[in-house]
Amino acid sequence: MKILIISASPRGEESNTLKLAREVASGTGGKVEEVKLSHVRLEFCRACNLCHRKIMACALKDDAFSVLEKMLTAEGIILASPNYINQVTGSLKTLMDRSSHFIHCLRLSGKYVAGVVSSGSGQDSQVLNYIGQYANLCGAQYSGGISSAVSALKEKTPAALALGKKLAADIQQQFVYHDQVALMENQKEHFRRLIELRKNEWPEEYEYWRQQGWL
Ligand SMILES: Cc1cc2nc3c(=O)[nH]c(=O)nc-3n(C[C@H](O)[C@H](O)[C@H](O)COP(=O)(O)O)c2cc1C
Repeated sequence: MKILIISASPRGEESNTLKLAREVASGTGGKVEEVKLSHVRLEFCRACNLCHRKIMACALKDDAFSVLEKMLTAEGIILASPNYINQVTGSLKTLMDRSSHFIHCLRLSGKYVAGVVSSGSGQDSQVLNYIGQYANLCGAQYSGGISSAVSALKEKTPAALALGKKLAADIQQQFVYHDQVALMENQKEHFRRLIELRKNEWPEEYEYWRQQGWL
């Protein structure tokens, strides 16, 4: 089972969030790969729309698409971000912005995401909710999240391992979260209309939808 941790702390190996994410990953029993966004070159999306005209193409020559390719081959993705002013960090938001093709074409369908957040306060529900919403926007189901105040990190090991186990079980059973699937169906309706409307501007995404049998 392929598990990908995307760590969005700028603090590399010192990251509390990454430590918690590694515990979640070890609970899965899967083969774990890690990407530290602080170690990759990531530029801001310039809204040129090239990625909609040509799938997995981008005018910016940095590392964003190599990270997105890893997401496409993972079965479980752990999105790990410190809480920065009640949001994910800028690096994770930048990666998300660069992934709008994933949203148009629900490219993470069949995959499962877990969220991991750490903070000074431990008041992280807004950040975890956002990670869950992003997962669903990309067509993935959200297995759940864990957060911790830095001061309480050591106590969180059992919960982190349990979340990892849940993520692995969801992948193995292809568990269906009916509430999430219902939300995703609504969103799919929206994009079905958009993709049809824009079929001349976004020919490859239109073709992708057609090949999936979604049109
Ligand atoms: C720019 C910035 C913004 C932050 N905003 C918050 C916040 O809104 N709430 C909070 O509880 N902690 C906040 N913190 C504290 C971090 O979330 C906390 O130190 C976190 O554990 C760092 O994770 P890391 O060790 O993985 O880098 C902030 C820290 C920084 C540097």
